Amino acid sequence: MVATFTAFVGAWLAGLHWASATSALAARFDQGLAEKYLWIQQLTIMPAAELARMDCGLACEMLPEVAQVHVTEDSGPLNTRGLVATYGGDDCLVSFKGSTSITNYLLGDFDILLDRPFSSCPDCRVHKGFYNSWRSLQDETQRALEDLGCDKKPLRVSGHSLGGAMALLAAFQLSEKYQIKEIYTFGQPRVGNEAWVNAFEARMANASFFRVVSYMDPVPHLPPSWLMGYRHVGAEVWYNTTSLGSPAFCAAGQEDCSGQFSVLRCLFHTCDHCSYLGLNPCKPNDPHPACLQGAGYR
Ligand SMILES: *[C@@H]1O[C@H](CO)[C@@H](O)[C@H](O)[C@H]1NC(C)=O
Ligand SMILES: *[C@@H]1O[C@H](CO)[C@@H](O)[C@H](O)[C@H]1NC(C)=O
Repeated sequence: MVATFTAFVGAWLAGLHWASATSALAARFDQGLAEKYLWIQQLTIMPAAELARMDCGLACEMLPEVAQVHVTEDSGPLNTRGLVATYGGDDCLVSFKGSTSITNYLLGDFDILLDRPFSSCPDCRVHKGFYNSWRSLQDETQRALEDLGCDKKPLRVSGHSLGGAMALLAAFQLSEKYQIKEIYTFGQPRVGNEAWVNAFEARMANASFFRVVSYMDPVPHLPPSWLMGYRHVGAEVWYNTTSLGSPAFCAAGQEDCSGQFSVLRCLFHTCDHCSYLGLNPCKPNDPHPACLQGAGYR
């Protein structure tokens, strides 16, 4: 009886804790800034010469805050790409390119096996392919951050798709030396197990982290949570449309956000992966989402 009561109060308090955590998150969420980060995703696929001059067409025009862009690139089989830059003069920025074939990659993947790369967290297991992708750019990213004097500046980290997974791993490792101010990810897959989630959340206690999901984008449903203990980090910021709207904020694992749709159903909505807040993180200088779906469209 007492045990039941204690369990009940415990669950109620945990619910309250999450409710206040998600409403605090909602208060800090900045949709205009989320749109900036979506334009930054387009920068990650622009020619380096144009980025050096910040003269790349519409995306560059939308981002007067971004300067001193260093492209990070591994043209080997991983084909990873990202950028390091200054943002608004006072901050530094690290962003990673997505992968439009990520659903195929996640469904037919050999690298899904979890790796234990962190000596500071021996129980942390993360997706081997995502970790190798971040590793391929880590040295170049750190060199560029040093060149820009970012050890004295707040760091913003962002990514879409595979780049979102890389952004989390980068923030986790860079937090040993840099002050992580903010992380925005879009269409980010699950990255690791419960121990990794806890370690990440502890390290990012002072950072604002927003994991944005557009309508039925299948990628955030992968790898599925029934497989090898994969968990999502943090609350979800969910849009019930691929255009601009008022997002819902859900604690990880709560079913009222994207969790209300099955992975199978979402696999028929792969175009949502390139359709966020009425913008397109996949196609350079395209001001339109790949498709209009969800509330207001159907
Ligand atoms: C968060 O900030 C507080 C106050 O500046 C500091 O004492 C603490 O170590 C920071 N925590 C992390 C995880 O960085
Ligand atoms: C979508 O979300 C908005 C804002 O929360 C809400 O007003 C609207 O009813 C939702 N639409 C549907 C179809 O769920």
